[in-house]
Amino acid sequence: METANFIALRGGERAGVIRVATNKNYLYICDLQVTPKTQGVGIGTNLINHATSLALSKNLESIRLCIFKGHSAKKFYEKLGFGIAGELGNFLRMDRKLQVEFSA
Ligand SMILES: CC(C)(COP(=O)(O)OP(=O)(O)OC[C@H]1O[C@@H](n2cnc3c(N)ncnc32)[C@H](O)[C@@H]1OP(=O)(O)O)[C@@H](O)C(=O)NCCC(=O)NCCS
Repeated sequence: METANFIALRGGERAGVIRVATNKNYLYICDLQVTPKTQGVGIGTNLINHATSLALSKNLESIRLCIFKGHSAKKFYEKLGFGIAGELGNFLRMDRKLQVEFSA
């Protein structure tokens, strides 16, 4: 898989980072962190939007990630359109589809 890191700056200082990996089908969010003092002002959303633009530019089918079961960030991802795709031990698998299938 091909990996990339994107850093969010706020007032010239590092406020967050997203680390992603892509293959030919999907983009995987390996890590997303916003510094505690800048959480809740939209930086996480912007980093997800940035990763989404990358995935769309590569024509990928979906964005995937795993979080610990019971992690509060599940709500954050659900607000951004992610749903539960399954379980993996102590983890929840979440994904967001980027392509829509029509059956006409
Ligand atoms: C989870 C995290 C990435 C969110 O980033 P953020 O910049 O704080 O989020 P935003 O400001 O873009 O928030 C978007 C929405 O999600 C909600 N939200 C954010 N973090 C949340 C959390 N942990 N639990 C519940 N809701 C959350 C916000 O309240 C906001 O809701 P609103 O639109 O109704 O106001 C950040 O809080 C963080 O780095 N946390 C610690 C590390 C972590 O949990 N990483 C993710 C798991 S890998």
